[in-house]
Amino acid sequence: MKRLQNKVAIVTGGATGIGEAISKKFAREGASIVVAGLPDDPVNDVVAEIKELGGIAIGYSGDLSSFETAKGCVTVAVEQFGKLDVLINNAGVFVETNFLTEYSEEAFEYMFKNNNKTTFMMSKAALPELQKTKGNIVTAGSEAGILGIPQNAAYGGTKAFNTAFTKGLAAEQATKGVRCNVVAPGPIDTAWTYDETGPMVKKMEKLNLQATLMGRRGTAEEVANVYLFLASDEATYVTGAVYTVDGGITIAKGPTGKEADSLFKDQPESNLGLEHTHEGHTSIR
Ligand SMILES: NC(=O)c1ccc[n+]([C@@H]2O[C@H](COP(=O)([O-])OP(=O)(O)OC[C@H]3O[C@@H](n4cnc5c(N)ncnc54)[C@H](O)[C@@H]3O)[C@@H](O)[C@H]2O)c1
Repeated sequence: MKRLQNKVAIVTGGATGIGEAISKKFAREGASIVVAGLPDDPVNDVVAEIKELGGIAIGYSGDLSSFETAKGCVTVAVEQFGKLDVLINNAGVFVETNFLTEYSEEAFEYMFKNNNKTTFMMSKAALPELQKTKGNIVTAGSEAGILGIPQNAAYGGTKAFNTAFTKGLAAEQATKGVRCNVVAPGPIDTAWTYDETGPMVKKMEKLNLQATLMGRRGTAEEVANVYLFLASDEATYVTGAVYTVDGGITIAKGPTGKEADSLFKDQPESNLGLEHTHEGHTSIR
């Protein structure tokens, strides 16, 4: 028995990066997929590739930050496949790297629209159907939504919103039989974590990997594997959880001290007359 046999899932941002991996993984595990993305996303390619391998998928193109479009996506899933079991809120954007003093309001508003409004609208539109099937939602958070991220404080904020929002939903929807969980990836091998294809500069790219215990990016499939578990009936007792898939970045921020400003590196003078600072209890007496 496949792990999502006879299930119907919507994957937002399902045609690129982590979303493509989730769409393909879920299809391989027996789910019928609505691959949802913005009009320019390679939605049709991913649908065709899933079908070539014997999977079941349809595409849905539109801006899911509008309730009308989000509702349309849910309607298409139900009309085509008869029900909805799983909503994956994976859509998101990462568009600027800058200290807050330079950070554009435009980028902040763009992130709020695509990271948060998509999650809000899709969850709102999908819940009536998920209540019927006792289904579940898995939302994309980020390690940045737990720890914050320098030069993209606002991005971390949008991911923290998604995390708290999804926990809130878990609390309110448990009585209706709907589970809600968060996947919080670390640096993943998608366009976002490369200077050449995203807003991350080379220095950040390097720092990110140095800060990760495993010293490398995670793959999109490694993230999709965790989405699969949470979306499946193997996770029936899991709700309101935040699953980090981050190579250990949240427990070890790595050698970032190397980059500290000299302002912080010089110890401040003390005038307390401290005589015993280095005479502490450091061995068995
Ligand atoms: N890549 C990473 O290192 C990383 C780390 C932590 C969290 N994440 C999260 O994982 C998710 C996927 O990231 P990715 O790296 O695969 O990026 P990606 O750009 O490949 O995927 C995001 C997709 O969402 C789509 N999208 C954005 N706004 C949309 C909207 N309004 N309506 C419909 N589709 C929309 C985009 O077009 C894109 O296809 C994001 O939510 C991101 O915050 C990624």
